[in-house]
Amino acid sequence: MNWNATHYQQQYSYIWQHGESLLAQLNPQVTEKILDLGCGTGQLAGQISASGAEVIGIDSDPNMIAQAQANYPHITFKVADAADFQLVEPVDAVFSNAALHWVTQAEDAARCVARSLKPNGRFVAELGGKGNVQTILTALETALETVSNLGEEMRDRPTLNPLTPPNNLNPWYFPSIGEYSSLLEKVGFEVVFAQLFDRPTPLGDAGLAGWLAMFSQRFFADLSAAQWAQIVSAVETAASELYQEGQWIADYRRLRIVAVKK
Ligand code: BEZ
Repeated sequence: MNWNATHYQQQYSYIWQHGESLLAQLNPQVTEKILDLGCGTGQLAGQISASGAEVIGIDSDPNMIAQAQANYPHITFKVADAADFQLVEPVDAVFSNAALHWVTQAEDAARCVARSLKPNGRFVAELGGKGNVQTILTALETALETVSNLGEEMRDRPTLNPLTPPNNLNPWYFPSIGEYSSLLEKVGFEVVFAQLFDRPTPLGDAGLAGWLAMFSQRFFADLSAAQWAQIVSAVETAASELYQEGQWIADYRRLRIVAVKK
């Protein structure tokens, strides 16, 4: 998945700003070695490092890692797949903010996290939880149904319609507390904290159209610019309840988890 890291960093700073309260929950100690899993452009790894702990950041996207390394030359960043990575030495804690909902091989990722931790090491994570961006997803489904000149044959292609449940094509993983806790227990964790909560999130100047372009257009790569513009307009109509007092507010729901490796 190739990201425009500069644009991400400029327009979506709220992603790591929201992660700052998760950092408080991580409570890094100077003696610790910590992995930031899905570090993006590195701002939270930078804050972990500033706390005195040693940090390594990994992300599957080379553009993100290049930007992170440019931002924080003193930190070790590496390109690695969250569902298939191995550290040279185990760490005291694995931290992950707003990354794991991109990893649909959730059990593989959880096994990698468990394997990376020392015994009693902690996993502190936040990701989109059950119901996350549901209004936007439902509006996308409606848009795909109603944009007439897409043509039957295009609408029926699963790669162009990955968001329609029930199937396993949803590009994101938004688990419930029960689902994610069970998965973590299965791979050897004890879950000590779990919270699912709404976080209505203003989308700033880029609005819903910008959010759709940044985060979901990649799943509709075969569409022409005109078809994409039609989709965006149809989504904006179907999700109009998210337009409040002059701005778009995404219906984010977060799952926050702290688990200890047993
Ligand atoms: C999220 O942070 O919840 C999210 C971001 C992009 C796409 C889907 C969800």
